[in-house]
Amino acid sequence: MVNRLLIHSPSKLRQITLDHPGGKVRLAQITDCHLGKVPGSTLLGMDTDHSLQAVVDLVLRERGHTDLVLGTGDLSDHGANPAYWRLRDYFDQVCKHNFWLPGNHDSWENMWADSGPNTQMSNEIRISNWQILMLNSQIPGEVGGELGSAQLALLDECLTRACDEDLHTLVCLHHQPVAIGSAWIDAQMVADADQFFQVLERHSSVRAVLWGHVHQQIDLARGDIALLASPSTCVQFTPGLAGFKVDDKSPGYRWMDLHDDGSIDTGISRVEGVSFSVELDSGGYL
Ligand SMILES: [Fe+2]
Repeated sequence: MVNRLLIHSPSKLRQITLDHPGGKVRLAQITDCHLGKVPGSTLLGMDTDHSLQAVVDLVLRERGHTDLVLGTGDLSDHGANPAYWRLRDYFDQVCKHNFWLPGNHDSWENMWADSGPNTQMSNEIRISNWQILMLNSQIPGEVGGELGSAQLALLDECLTRACDEDLHTLVCLHHQPVAIGSAWIDAQMVADADQFFQVLERHSSVRAVLWGHVHQQIDLARGDIALLASPSTCVQFTPGLAGFKVDDKSPGYRWMDLHDDGSIDTGISRVEGVSFSVELDSGGYL
């Protein structure tokens, strides 16, 4: 149940508190869906509506009850309104508390206009004794990411309150804040990542940072903070290569259980038994 929603603006706090019965918070990260304007649109040969529905079906089979879904950007391929309308329906199949943040392929304005009633663009979500922050690393018109002074100030403000109120924090954004060992996509990482980590390290509440953009599983750590990225619901990128290459792994999602003590159980799950076409020899992706 939604209790409150504050100020509407890309750079101001939009806080929401969800009721929770206690125990672990069960969430799913669904990312980089790249939905086109019309159903059946493709990315590198893959029908992205078909692959998203296959991932939604997988979440429903594996997870049963889900408290909230986090959509961490590139949810549309070109920012078209009809893509967000369909996206809302896909997410609604999983649960009624869905949250979006923008990637480089999205239109923040269209996402904002098309969100609701069960999909929010909140940047601070409170549930149980957790605070989930949804940051905006999009630079409109550019592929690479940057948080900028307003988002970093908001992050600092939210983390200060988390420490004051004994909350654990999960920080979400679209672009990767650390290099992942692929030169072509590391050129697009968060430009002010150093400042981002300086803010995190001024506070003690952050348990994990979670992002999209890289279309592959990443499970790293920086001190006690887990650094996590996840498969796309459509095309996957081959890890560890200097140049772009499509991977033959299947679409997937990340599940997370957030515990009262600040610990996290998490893993990746991929669709099995469904055939997807994809252009494995494609030379590029923008
Ligand atoms: Fe993407």
